[in-house]
Amino acid sequence: MINSRVILARRPTSLPVQSDFAFDSVPVPSPGPGQVLVRTLYVSIDPGMRGWLLDKPNYAAPVPVGAPMRSFGVGVVTESRSPAIATGDLVVGMTGWQEFAVLDATDVHRRIPPDTSSVSAHLGVLGITGLTAYVGMLEIGSPTPGDTVLVSTAAGAVGSVAGQLASISGARTVGLTGSEEKRRLCLDQFGFDAAINYRAESDLAAAIARECPTGVDVYFDSVGGLMLDAALGQLNVGARVPVCGTIGLPPGGAVDGPRPERTILVKRLRVQGFLATDHLARLDHIAARLADWLDSGRLTHLEEISPSLADAPSALVRQLAGDNLGRCLVRVAPDQPLPRTASARNRFEEAL
Ligand SMILES: NC(=O)c1ccc[n+]([C@@H]2O[C@H](COP(=O)([O-])OP(=O)(O)OC[C@H]3O[C@@H](n4cnc5c(N)ncnc54)[C@H](OP(=O)(O)O)[C@@H]3O)[C@@H](O)[C@H]2O)c1
Repeated sequence: MINSRVILARRPTSLPVQSDFAFDSVPVPSPGPGQVLVRTLYVSIDPGMRGWLLDKPNYAAPVPVGAPMRSFGVGVVTESRSPAIATGDLVVGMTGWQEFAVLDATDVHRRIPPDTSSVSAHLGVLGITGLTAYVGMLEIGSPTPGDTVLVSTAAGAVGSVAGQLASISGARTVGLTGSEEKRRLCLDQFGFDAAINYRAESDLAAAIARECPTGVDVYFDSVGGLMLDAALGQLNVGARVPVCGTIGLPPGGAVDGPRPERTILVKRLRVQGFLATDHLARLDHIAARLADWLDSGRLTHLEEISPSLADAPSALVRQLAGDNLGRCLVRVAPDQPLPRTASARNRFEEAL
């Protein structure tokens, strides 16, 4: 049996391009004691990958050149050497961009109910994306009725859920996003009360002041840099700033800007970074709450699923250009696994 993989072919020094990756085929690995073999069904495309690829200090070691690209994945266990997990179980973990992955049973993030209506949602709104939005918005941002909540990357996977959770909490929500199409999506699909296309504004701070006339009580920051500078001036005393991501900073670099210390002090801001992966032990509970909101129609989500493993590098490039609409995923195999075909490799080579 063959395992098709997308590996890191060379280390980027800035934003990754498609040719930083290559496709290879190796024998399917065998699980050792305490391990499981997972056939992946979907893998994720995450902005955090930009940092995972660089040879710079980060919360995770750089992906080694020659190794499969690190990613979240959901799949079916085809062989188990762990008493905790059975063959046939659906599991989520760090599978990487490959058809088969061996995982330590202790590294499996979650076993998914077998009757789940959407396997892919467990990499999105019911998985790491929902967990990120929940922890960042509800536990750190803590919006209350009457608050104004400003959300960056508002049309994206995390931002769209974070905004809806703030609405569920009774807050007024304002989204920041990078196109008119995504601005409409924020208003029409994700229920933001107002939305700003930051690319169409010559003075972002003035635009935020216009749409947040009573100031901002929670700024959900996934961008940093100039967008954070623009938001800081509009924050109310006691505002909370969950720091979710820094996609607006150049890879591995910094931008000049005003120093924030006086604003943080004078406005008594609570600025807190967080990583969703620190909260995986609570994912069952949090996913159940998110599922209830989905079932009741109070929460909605959008997925952009590329059709084959070969599409993973181009999906990452698209996402980092801001061209994605919704949670970026790649379908590796049909939800019901079928025998492997050679088509993934062919499509990858055509795409280069
Ligand atoms: N802390 C955690 O544990 C955790 C977990 C998951 C994700 N995150 C962070 O959450 C954020 C959103 O991730 P996601 O998975 O939901 O992705 P996403 O929002 O679906 O896609 C990324 C979006 O970022 C925006 N973007 C890209 N380049 C940008 C730039 N240079 N400046 C400003 N915005 C840019 C684009 O939206 P616009 O066109 O609207 O700007 C793009 O669509 C990222 O910062 C990510 O690192 C953090």
